[in-house]
Amino acid sequence: MHTLALVNQKGGVGKTTTSVCLATALAHLGHDVLLIDLDPQMNATKWLLGRELESDEASVLESIITAGDEPDEADWPLARLVEPSGAGLDFVPAHADLSNIEGDIGEKPSRPYLLRERIRELKQGIGFEHLHAAGAHLPSEGHYDFCLIDCPPSLGLLVVQAITASDSLIVPVNVDGMSMQGLGQLVETTREVRKYLNDQIEILGLLPNNLDKRAGLVNEGLDALRDAYGDLVFETAVPWRSKIIEVSTYGTSLYDHAPSSDAVAIYETLAQEIIQRLQTSTDRTPIAA
Ligand SMILES: Nc1ncnc2c1ncn2[C@@H]1O[C@H](COP(=O)(O)OP(=O)(O)OP(=O)(O)O)[C@@H](O)[C@H]1O
Ligand SMILES: [Mg+2]
Repeated sequence: MHTLALVNQKGGVGKTTTSVCLATALAHLGHDVLLIDLDPQMNATKWLLGRELESDEASVLESIITAGDEPDEADWPLARLVEPSGAGLDFVPAHADLSNIEGDIGEKPSRPYLLRERIRELKQGIGFEHLHAAGAHLPSEGHYDFCLIDCPPSLGLLVVQAITASDSLIVPVNVDGMSMQGLGQLVETTREVRKYLNDQIEILGLLPNNLDKRAGLVNEGLDALRDAYGDLVFETAVPWRSKIIEVSTYGTSLYDHAPSSDAVAIYETLAQEIIQRLQTSTDRTPIAA
């Protein structure tokens, strides 16, 4: 199972959109995919579940704060939280309470590793007996092929949990000057996590998103991004498309709502480029030194 976190501390760059559309494309290509909503804004949850969680419903928060505890009734392996969302795609919902995580996990010594521990369990199929009861699809090989984590727009504890728990990072970016300014800080945080918490973590690629060809600055911005980060930038770029806004607004998928949109093929191409990068595993991260 490859665990990929969608990160960028800048808001509104397309982390949630990419998480959901990429997860759907990977599932459509025949992979077993789990998407974890790790954002207290719950945008992926609202999109995929069609509603917010009630205050008494468990979310990824319960899984994180009970990680490492005895496997009893009060224990929440991620698999116990899975909700089905169409063929091949399952997800774990978030709750607004996730914003209180700092207080909830207190000073546990294993503090940065809690989500990582839960992901390790997923790799081993721990808690999968709950999947059937939830109506989720059972991954054919006994494990998910991909676990995507939709992160909030910060570099706080939640995002450090996600980077520590992941194999690779995907960074959606808007190619205007302002959006690129925060990338250095993200690279620095990744470097710190790599040094102290997860020596395997790599930035798999920067994904130019929301390109509006009518805006004259786009090509210039894309060139500047490629000049600065070279082949760390994915070859695939996602253009601005009204259909993409519509599917998140209506809580549906491109396959159902706009199967003839070029966005369908673009996300499938992105999925294939990601798989190819994972297979060739050249470390492009500007953090190797
Ligand atoms: N390629 C695209 N074409 C058109 N609209 C897009 C595209 N990508 C994202 N958007 C829109 O941009 C807005 C922000 O996208 P999204 O919510 O995915 O960003 P985010 O990085 O997850 O935001 P946050 O940091 O708040 O979690 C949404 O309204 C979304 O529909
Ligand atoms: Mg989001």
